[in-house]
Amino acid sequence: MKCVSVCVVLSLLCHTDGVHIRDPNRNSSDVSVDLSAVIRRVDRRFLSVTIDASLASEEKFMYLLSSPKIRTLARALTPAFLRFGGTRQDFMVFTPQRRHTDSGVGAASCDEGDLPSWLEEKLKKDWTQQQLILMREDLQRKYRRVKFTEFTVDLLHSFTNCSGMDLIFGLNALLRTADNTWNSSNAGSLLQYCESRRYKMAWELGNEPNSYEKKAGIRVDGAQLGHDFTRLREMMTESKFYHDAGLYGPDVGQPRDHRADILEGFLQTGAEAVDACTWHHYYVNGRDTSLDDFLDPDILNTLAVKIDKVLEEVKLVSPGKPVWLGETSSAYGGGAVGLSDTFAAGFM
Ligand SMILES: *[C@@H]1O[C@H](CO)[C@@H](O)[C@H](O)[C@H]1NC(C)=O
Ligand SMILES: *[C@@H]1O[C@H](CO)[C@@H](O)[C@H](O)[C@H]1NC(C)=O
Ligand SMILES: *[C@@H]1O[C@H](CO)[C@@H](O)[C@H](O)[C@H]1NC(C)=O
Repeated sequence: MKCVSVCVVLSLLCHTDGVHIRDPNRNSSDVSVDLSAVIRRVDRRFLSVTIDASLASEEKFMYLLSSPKIRTLARALTPAFLRFGGTRQDFMVFTPQRRHTDSGVGAASCDEGDLPSWLEEKLKKDWTQQQLILMREDLQRKYRRVKFTEFTVDLLHSFTNCSGMDLIFGLNALLRTADNTWNSSNAGSLLQYCESRRYKMAWELGNEPNSYEKKAGIRVDGAQLGHDFTRLREMMTESKFYHDAGLYGPDVGQPRDHRADILEGFLQTGAEAVDACTWHHYYVNGRDTSLDDFLDPDILNTLAVKIDKVLEEVKLVSPGKPVWLGETSSAYGGGAVGLSDTFAAGFM
């Protein structure tokens, strides 16, 4: 939902023989762990990150991704997926500025185009203002349409490619026709551009569709969303470059009331189209939480409860389909100041 959230592939890895863990201060707490067999194996990219699409709310902020410092830090997180998405992805429209030919390969090399430190400082300063604007939009649930050009895609690709991450780009699912099917024409131009640049990347379509009504006054049910994903998969199959690329979705919020219905409807019509079924989890509301919440075992356990619910649902409708936590963090609404950014959040 905001800036850097973590995206995790669900699985656990065990790989050595049995060990005993003994707490020297207590006598009766021996823990015996049977490590004789591998139960699950995680993807090497099991710990991955999202950059919130609001970074492109004004395109100049994308320059921040050419900071040598952030590229160096990002490299330390690899191997990992970098997902570009969030609330604003469903308000973004690709508006190309240049004519491009089919032969162009890559832009500048990884060493070129470093961000001068004076510009980095200025952009960071401007960003604090921009955050206020974004927060106001979130509170009023009124989102401007954001136009982005080749510049955003070029910087995202060069950031991920040069730091060794795998890019997942979230497309706008709120571009809809009169009969409420997805209008794929803008995504078509973006795919075409990315293909012309030979940008290796994977795709998503829509972010937390369960709250489209609140965010945009548009209701999209799960079955329709599944058809929309099927359409996107067709477009990818027709592409020379993306026919084997990953497609993940539907990035629903955690199961709650009718959200479960969206997932079920989606799986019935769209499971075949996606390589993994994605959902999002947050423990608490960042504007209304406390240190006690961050240490409360009942709250800490909600993740396991929701995971069980989602896995059960997927197993029922689409057995064997991988399930990914496509976005998660401690607190939604930009995090809890003084908590999400501290050691206390480590337990979540
Ligand atoms: C641990 O065991 C020792 C010796 O058996 C005993 O003296 C000590 O009180 C025990 N400590 C606890 C915390 O049970
Ligand atoms: C991708 O990264 C490799 C090195 O990791 C570099 O040689 C190549 O030029 C990069 N491509 C683009 C398009 O930046
Ligand atoms: C889809 O969107 C494009 C603009 O991007 C528009 O020209 C076209 O008419 C739309 N198609 C439908 C069926 O609404």
